[in-house]
Amino acid sequence: MNKKATKIITLMAVFGCVAIAFTSCDKKDANSPGVEYMPDMYRSPSLESNMAYVTIKNGKETGDTLQVNRMPVAGTIARGFLPYAFADTPEGYEAAKVGAHNPLERNDKNVAEGKELYGKFCIHCHGESGQGDGPVGLKLPGAPPAYTAADKINMTEGELFQIITYGKGLMGPHKPLVSQEERWKLVLYVQHLQHPNGVTAPAADSAAVKPAPKMEAKKK
Ligand code: HEC
Repeated sequence: MNKKATKIITLMAVFGCVAIAFTSCDKKDANSPGVEYMPDMYRSPSLESNMAYVTIKNGKETGDTLQVNRMPVAGTIARGFLPYAFADTPEGYEAAKVGAHNPLERNDKNVAEGKELYGKFCIHCHGESGQGDGPVGLKLPGAPPAYTAADKINMTEGELFQIITYGKGLMGPHKPLVSQEERWKLVLYVQHLQHPNGVTAPAADSAAVKPAPKMEAKKK
């Protein structure tokens, strides 16, 4: 055996022993993490929200707990937050069509913000003008239909919001990606794409609005 090989084997043996020494200590407590290398990496000194911490004095648990924040009282809502009452079900969809209304005013600022969000979250599938010709949309097994298609142009604001929130067909839900307010801004912008000369979509309660045939088919 040459010298180099001997050296490598010796080094490997030394590393092995060190590794075994670190990992093989007999733990009294099976849940104990053992020796922690850089414990700050696992145990953040900052307090996490919605957590209760035990307080320690002179190295001993005092029995007191420190609650970082309180869970909200049941049935209460945060100031300025508008709960959305429509579920991700065919019934919820039908109810949202007529019952969900945009709390935001249609003004240039809100539409412009909707446009910006559309550029980040929708344009790659639905295309710049909402014709369903975005580079990703065209690659889908079924490209998204144009917002101006005969059966889409009169979708109610509630329907648009419901689709953006929970998704539809190949389109995923956007609830985790954009806040409720942002989704209503997106609704304003989709309506702007449908009616660039001024939004004259029938009011949500209008009898002219017919259920989308696809959702009818889903309903069993
Ligand atoms: C991954 C691609 C993709 C993304 C991203 C996407 N959509 Fe869609 N979207 C689709 C597809 C595909 C459909 C058709 C779904 C169906 O009818 O099965 C659709 C349907 C819709 C509809 C219903 C009207 C129609 O054309 O059928 C609306 C409204 C809509 N999307 C708005 C949005 C908005 C607003 C965003 C951005 C927040 C967005 N979508 C993001 C792919 C996408």
